[in-house]
Amino acid sequence: MESKQRILVTSALPYANGPIHLGHLAGAYLPADIFVRYHRLKGSDVIYICGSDEHGVPIMLRARAEGVSPQDIVDRYHELNKKSFAAFGMSFDFYGRTSSPVHHRTSQDFFRRLNEKNIFIVKKEKQLYDPEAKIFLADRFVRGTCPKCGYEDAYGDQCEKCGSSLSPADLIDPRSAITNAEPVMKETVHWYLPLARFQKKLEKWINEHQDWKPNVLGQIKSWFADGLKDRAVTRDLPWGVSIPEDIAREHGIDASGKVLYVWFDAPIGYISATIEWAEEKGDPDLWKAYWQDQSTRLIHFIGKDNIVFHCIIFPAMLMEHGDYVLPENVPANEFLNLEGNKLSTSRNYAVWLDDYLQKFEPDSLRYVLAGNLPETRDADFSWKDFQARHNNELADILGNFVNRTVTFAHKYFSGKVPPLGELDEMDRQLVEKIKTYPSRLGELIEKYQFKNYIREFMDLARFANKYFNDKEPWKTRKENPQACATTINLCLQTAKTLSIVAEPVLPFTARRIWKMLNVENSQTWDDATKLTLDDGAEIQPAEILFTKIEDDVIQKEIERLQQAGAPNEQKAVEKKETEMERISFDDFKKVELRVATILEAKKVEKADKLLQLQIDLGEEKRQIVAGIAQHYSPEELVGKRIIVVANLEPAKIRGVESNGMLLAASDSEGNLTLLTVDNEIANGSKIS
Ligand code: MF3
Ligand code: ZN
Repeated sequence: MESKQRILVTSALPYANGPIHLGHLAGAYLPADIFVRYHRLKGSDVIYICGSDEHGVPIMLRARAEGVSPQDIVDRYHELNKKSFAAFGMSFDFYGRTSSPVHHRTSQDFFRRLNEKNIFIVKKEKQLYDPEAKIFLADRFVRGTCPKCGYEDAYGDQCEKCGSSLSPADLIDPRSAITNAEPVMKETVHWYLPLARFQKKLEKWINEHQDWKPNVLGQIKSWFADGLKDRAVTRDLPWGVSIPEDIAREHGIDASGKVLYVWFDAPIGYISATIEWAEEKGDPDLWKAYWQDQSTRLIHFIGKDNIVFHCIIFPAMLMEHGDYVLPENVPANEFLNLEGNKLSTSRNYAVWLDDYLQKFEPDSLRYVLAGNLPETRDADFSWKDFQARHNNELADILGNFVNRTVTFAHKYFSGKVPPLGELDEMDRQLVEKIKTYPSRLGELIEKYQFKNYIREFMDLARFANKYFNDKEPWKTRKENPQACATTINLCLQTAKTLSIVAEPVLPFTARRIWKMLNVENSQTWDDATKLTLDDGAEIQPAEILFTKIEDDVIQKEIERLQQAGAPNEQKAVEKKETEMERISFDDFKKVELRVATILEAKKVEKADKLLQLQIDLGEEKRQIVAGIAQHYSPEELVGKRIIVVANLEPAKIRGVESNGMLLAASDSEGNLTLLTVDNEIANGSKIS
């Protein structure tokens, strides 16, 4: 028996201000659950901690928008997310919440310890204050123009256009996100974590972890290269964990309204949730082994937007506190896109977990997502791919193999495991795979290579299916009953092996297979390597594991997304916001647009896109060249009333003089139409 490992796994605490979607699952949740389930089967001493992140300005803004209290918002989404996670098979040992009293106490104690050790820099400073709402404008409570890229609607903590992280005072023309009032400067006091001072220490520590994922190390190095900046860890807000009374008193300030920054308290939530887990187990000190014994392997699963907090800021806090272990690894994932576009929760361009679960099985999504995780670069989820992998892999390979095996055993061996006879070459090959695959798959999971684990798992199922085919038990049943019995015995053993090694990703399916095979739910990873089904053991009737998903069902989902924000529309919207340059009315007046009639039209030689037009502009006739030959024939143009830019400088196009330009509209699909006039009006009429 190998020595038991003590492992503490966390997934980023999701904000309790909205439901869980696929992007969350692929980033921080599903990979962690696979990792934890595997370790449980291995017999490791592992616990899995998560919970709701219930503070921060976005939750307050949401509450304001709905006219309810922040507590109402977090109560609603904490329950919803906890439920849908459970239905998705997320096997947290504890799902806490940062509004709990234990969490408030734990984070205040943490803050107090750093304060006692004189870690913080306390600064008196002037900050933006909304005189109408009587509130300091922290983070997202203030909007204004980004100093880096000029985007006019940047947040106080970040510009969503260029991604720069900002502080409210950086914004040009700031305004309150609550009242739109112009903020005034008002004095306040804040506690800063002097990260600049810790940089050397942190760099040394990161250097000991060169095995971390390259996407994670890359981001950390660029933070180091920019030089770490001191960060305020308090805020003037009415929602959050208040700073400890005694510390406030020391500084002659009022603790009410002065709270810990959400990114200070939230990761401490991992600790407080572990404390609550231990209390619930009736062993209140048990959490200490996981957080304070240096042999614990602490592993944080997160999405890439959380890297700086988990790899730099929280570790710095833990180091300075002194009592806690540091993470052994932070296997962060990149982002998941949807049908080729970025997810957008505000546009409802997302697949929501609670909605998914009303229509499909959790295991299908677990399998498809795990096989396509954004492990080292962004990945894309598409419904067609979901359908294909469910139908062609889960149903046709895994489901089919288990079903035909169990059905055969019922039909011809009266529902019992037939005896294992002598093995031929093919049988030995299969037995060899049963022996070796589990440790290979386990290694992949331990190395956070979940996509490879999925691929190799399905290879094993594919091999099993092929074995069944090649062995032709429906023939040997008559010709060589002993060989047939051996085949079906080995197929049943393989089904058991498959079910165990699939359990981390397909926990519901695994249990259904165990039920069919009549085996305990207490299977171990080691059991997967052995032929544990005894000759003559009874099995249960076959059940269909996966029914095929039909086209029309998938089509509905695709259409739902298209309505939410069709890809083209989305791009068009973005373009409007970012690329449209404004001109003054005076600029516009410089352009002289006039109505004209096309008198003649002919092709320009050796230019298949161009037409040479004679037009009537009222007071004069003119020649223009237009690139519309692929959309209009010369004949159909004659007599059309069009709009031209009359004061454009003359130019020669392919040697032909063009004195003006006609107006046409075109779209991204390549369609083109001329602009014409609606009613009778004289040639030469001005357009304004
Ligand atoms: N709520 C944060 C997010 O969704 C994650 C918090 S992780 C924690 O981005 F470590 F702070 F808890
Ligand atoms: Zn910007």
